[in-house]
Amino acid sequence: MSWKKSERLMDTIKHYSGFPATGVSLRQMVQFGERPSTGTLFRASQFLSEELPIRLAHRVQELGDLPDGLNDIPSIQKVQDWYSQSFEDITTLPRPNLPSDVRERLLRPMKQNGRDSKILSQTTHNPSVKQGQYRSQQTNGNSNGGGKGSSRRYYASTDDEGDWPPELNDYNKRFSRTLEGIKRRHDSVVTTVAQGILEYKRKRQRMQIDNNIQSFLDRFYMSRIGIRMLIGQHIALTDQKQAIEPNYVGIICTKTNVRELAQEAIDNARFVCEDHYGLFDAPKVQLVCKADLHFMYVPGHLSHMLFETLKNSLRAVVETHGQDKQEFPVTKVIIAEGKEDITIKVSDEGGGIPRSSIPLVWTYMYTTVETTPNLDPDFNKSDFKAPMAGFGYGLPISRLYARYFGGDLKLISMEGYGTDVYLHLNRLSSSSEPLQ
Ligand SMILES: Nc1ncnc2c1ncn2[C@@H]1O[C@H](COP(=O)(O)OP(=O)(O)OP(=O)(O)O)[C@@H](O)[C@H]1O
Ligand SMILES: [Mg+2]
Repeated sequence: MSWKKSERLMDTIKHYSGFPATGVSLRQMVQFGERPSTGTLFRASQFLSEELPIRLAHRVQELGDLPDGLNDIPSIQKVQDWYSQSFEDITTLPRPNLPSDVRERLLRPMKQNGRDSKILSQTTHNPSVKQGQYRSQQTNGNSNGGGKGSSRRYYASTDDEGDWPPELNDYNKRFSRTLEGIKRRHDSVVTTVAQGILEYKRKRQRMQIDNNIQSFLDRFYMSRIGIRMLIGQHIALTDQKQAIEPNYVGIICTKTNVRELAQEAIDNARFVCEDHYGLFDAPKVQLVCKADLHFMYVPGHLSHMLFETLKNSLRAVVETHGQDKQEFPVTKVIIAEGKEDITIKVSDEGGGIPRSSIPLVWTYMYTTVETTPNLDPDFNKSDFKAPMAGFGYGLPISRLYARYFGGDLKLISMEGYGTDVYLHLNRLSSSSEPLQ
């Protein structure tokens, strides 16, 4: 059955797109603790059932307003329909009819139990993000509990003595299942948009995308990271499967072991490199990192960024020195721990990048690979084999992941020698999502 958007739906979407997104910080996301209560989850569902439609609505509007006929490209319209459909899924999900005492109880703050305040005391403002740098609103404070007019609050711990009516739990489950469906629907958004841009470039005979489209893609993919973070977090919190794994709050690990993740990314990147070039032994990578270095982060995000930068380095090393070399120069991964940041430097001797090309490496679709691998819509299926390179998405998307939690990704090259990539990860974790 194919889905059709109604005029009424588009009007509602337009209305929602008039509200600003509300940014959430990593530290607000971990306030839920390892086992959030039914009431707390319900409050979070309520927040998300308004916040996600606002964010989806912004994207629907923006896709529709793309200039120069880009909004008419079929792949782009397909993605726009996915966003509209997901908007509809959330806004039409029936809410439980709760008796007034339950509604009041939901707004009543829980007695302090000390756990949240411990996590909070370890965090302060991120000085690298300027006040007012992003347009998203901050959620108001992070004190516990309700207060008047506070339904627009992501985390609110609720009074949890005694049972909640079963409707709450039912709603939480239904809401979480709806989110699962949405997450799956949007799995291939990145490749479908990329496909759309390719079609557009072909149709308009453009070599590079202009600044407008570049900043649209930055906003669009950043927004996607945020939406998927909130959705992934909420599903994991509702399942409470993570309670088996200590140190996890949803998909956030409060003690992400940096060294272990880096070693894993190195092994994976070397494996892909051996496979791609038919090498017996990929170029070596040396890891310098304290064994017990850990901080609060989303392991999946960190793995992604490390894997992408390492693939780039290994490719540069192999292609600069020739595939049939026996020995390659060693790539170094150095990890430092500061008060503000954990910084990871990936240093290779892969010949560097000419200075004039540096701005290009941050543009989507910029790649020095001759033939881009096929953009298969099944790209995200689990049996998908990661390519060595070829989409020109590795660096720009990794930088968005870094910035999403208040970090950054920088690249410095010495043409004729090699490249240093600096991955700064903010460990204070209080900066709100950088949404525009
Ligand atoms: N360490 C490096 N040394 C030399 N050139 C690099 C390095 N990292 C990136 N580049 C250059 O920047 C380009 C863009 O990198 P990016 O990772 O964004 O895309 P890609 O590797 O071409 O494709 P993919 O999307 O699969 O990662 C590369 O094609 C390469 O020319
Ligand atoms: Mg790459």
